Amino acid sequence: MSEPTPPADRSAAQRAHDLGLKARKALGDPRASVNLRWLRTISGAPVERILEVLAELDGLVPVEQEMRRRHVAGGRPGYASICAPFELYTMVRLLQPKHVVETGVSSGVSSAHFLLALDRNRSGVLHSIDLPTHQRGPILRSDESPVALPPGLASGWSIPFRSSRWDLRIGDSTVLLPALAAELPAIDLFLHDDLHTPEHLTFELETLRPKFSPGAPVLADNTKWTGDAVPRFAAEVGARVSRRGTGDLVGFRFPAKVRRKSPTARPAASS
Ligand SMILES: C[S@@+](CC[C@H](N)C(=O)[O-])C[C@H]1O[C@@H](n2cnc3c(N)ncnc32)[C@H](O)[C@@H]1O
Repeated sequence: MSEPTPPADRSAAQRAHDLGLKARKALGDPRASVNLRWLRTISGAPVERILEVLAELDGLVPVEQEMRRRHVAGGRPGYASICAPFELYTMVRLLQPKHVVETGVSSGVSSAHFLLALDRNRSGVLHSIDLPTHQRGPILRSDESPVALPPGLASGWSIPFRSSRWDLRIGDSTVLLPALAAELPAIDLFLHDDLHTPEHLTFELETLRPKFSPGAPVLADNTKWTGDAVPRFAAEVGARVSRRGTGDLVGFRFPAKVRRKSPTARPAASS
């Protein structure tokens, strides 16, 4: 059984929730309620500092409203993207990463929140890799995934602003990720949100392993489909995995002391 939450923590959690309320409503995703416990674990930042950053979220409301409008106009009113956009924003504000890497862009909810934070930091670059699929006709059919791109639109189609901090690469991560890893001096935050198979996620983690900086958050969404890829990798590097609430978005901080083996994983078979 989990420990009961002390009253002081409960009120901080409530403040965190309240600070994210307007932005969450504007984006229209009820899952995006801020999870303070997860943010603390992954960022290692003190609660007061986290709450200071969360106070910035009201300023994102116009962007969230426009992303919501674009999703609805694109025929995806219930579009299920990353469930923790505000935690992504907050982590980047708190940790000031130089190089953020994400796999899986689609409409761009995670990308937008990384970029909003990098732009506000005035430092750092988001390197995104996406191999999009395309909706076949003018209306999304029931046998098509909502992550497919609406006709005529590109990866990141719901993002209503431009950022010079975005390095977007279109292609298969089994091809592009090793090249990107070779280019970067270090990776300070990673989000896996593309092909959710154990083999593919293991490939991505092993490819980036030599480049993760000490303390870098390593996050993976939809882990109900990726078997033991995250727990196995985390155990090997000596990290403890933390789950966000009851969902299957998980993360850990890459440890400072770990044996850095060369990437040996082979690209996963595409599916
Ligand atoms: C779940 S969506 C990403 C959602 C996004 N992170 C968000 O918050 O809105 C997954 C994306 O990964 C892409 N994808 C699937 N397999 C891929 C691969 N092997 N390499 C790169 N992208 C891939 C999909 O086409 C899709 O655009």
